[in-house]
This record gives sequence, structure tokens and C-alpha cells, in this order.
Amino acid sequence: APWRATVLTLYPEMFPGPLGHSLSGDALTRGTWSLEPRQIREHGLGRHRSVDDTPAGGGAGMVLRCDVLGAAIDAAAGPDDARPRLLMSPRGKPLTQARVRALAEGPGAILVCGRFEGVDERVIEARQLEEVSIGDYVLSGGEIAALVLIDACVRLLPGVMGKHASGVEESFEGGLLEYPHYTRPREWEGRTIPDVLMGGNHAAIARWRSERSRALTQARRPDLLQRDEP
Ligand code: ADE
Repeated sequence: APWRATVLTLYPEMFPGPLGHSLSGDALTRGTWSLEPRQIREHGLGRHRSVDDTPAGGGAGMVLRCDVLGAAIDAAAGPDDARPRLLMSPRGKPLTQARVRALAEGPGAILVCGRFEGVDERVIEARQLEEVSIGDYVLSGGEIAALVLIDACVRLLPGVMGKHASGVEESFEGGLLEYPHYTRPREWEGRTIPDVLMGGNHAAIARWRSERSRALTQARRPDLLQRDEP
């Protein structure tokens, strides 16, 4: 069975968007994964299909209604649907490569895209939505975050990367940032490829790359070197 992504959103036309191109787009066409964007507004209320209302207790903005989102989730999730239900939100636990790997190994995911100032807390509890953040910045909605999460998962599915490096040996998979890359020409604007890479000594090349990874990580992401899990 293909890895299955269901996305609940007020903007289903944003999907597949960039995921319809390149490696993920080819894999989608091949049936390696499937994408089902679903319009939350189909479960909206009244003649105007309202999905939101003013926040209890006052304040700015609008809140996505629990009854509307609950109905949208119930219509999207099968009765024995084993997929995790994720709510894209800057309040969520940060997405990591380890979590991406776990999601990619599973049956897929149901992704809920928040909009407005937030989502009624009761539906998060009642439908066991797990809030996930893609970083410490605020997007205008969860759609771009959902695209990011799906892209990160899909590239790990069997056959998607093909002969393009197998996903490992990339930044984070080894716990370190990647070493610098070079290709022809050997000299460009007075800058040359490091001699060690031109020498054919594979042990020396491996040592050089490992040292550059270490130094780059120390300079840019010292937090990665402090972690217990290597
Ligand atoms: N929605 C808005 N900002 C977000 C973020 N940083 N991560 C996930 N979803 C979001």
C-alpha cells in the first residue's frame, strides 16, 4: 500500500504544489505515495459554511470551531485508520529527522492545517491531535509546514531517491552537518578544489570530510555536538 497523506485545509488548491514536481512528483505519479487534500469548509455551518468564530474570553482573531474540525477529521479518517493525526502549529513539538524517519516507516499521516489565531483546544484533545512545529518562526497557516513534513517523509520512501544519495550521509542523519562539496572546474575565480579531494586517497578524503563536518557543526550548530544520541 502506498504511504498515504491526507491533508485537512481551507486551501486544498495549495496541494500538491511543489510536491508535484521533481522526485516527490515522480513518486506520486508512480503511486509510491498518495495525497488527499480535503476541504474543511465542506463541514462548515449554515449558508456561509462558517468554520470559525470569535475567541471565548475575547481577544483578536478567530478560532477554528471544534465541531467543524471534528466532523472533517471523522470524515477523513477511516474506522481502523492507524495513521497519526498531526496538527501543524508553531506551538508543537519541533519536527526532527528521527520523527520524520518514524513517520516514513508508518502507513502515512493525517495532517491538519491550522489557520486564524488557533484551533479550539477541545478538538485537539478529543481527536488526539499531536501538535508539530517545523521551526521557531510563525507561518500564516499550516499548509507550508505540511508540505515540508510530507517532503521530508516522501524522500525516505523506498525508491524515491533512486541513485541520488540514499538519504543517509546527509546533514543530521549522521548527527553532524554535511561537509563541503565541489565539482569541476578545478579552479574558478581564483578558488581551487582542496588538494586532498583530487588525490584519490580515499582514507584521507574520508578523514578530511569528517573533520570539516565536525568544524562546521562546532561553528554553526554546537547544540548538535552536545546531544547524547550520536
Ligand atoms: N503554522 C504556523 N507556523 C508554523 C510552524 N512554525 N510550524 C508548523 N505549523 C505552523
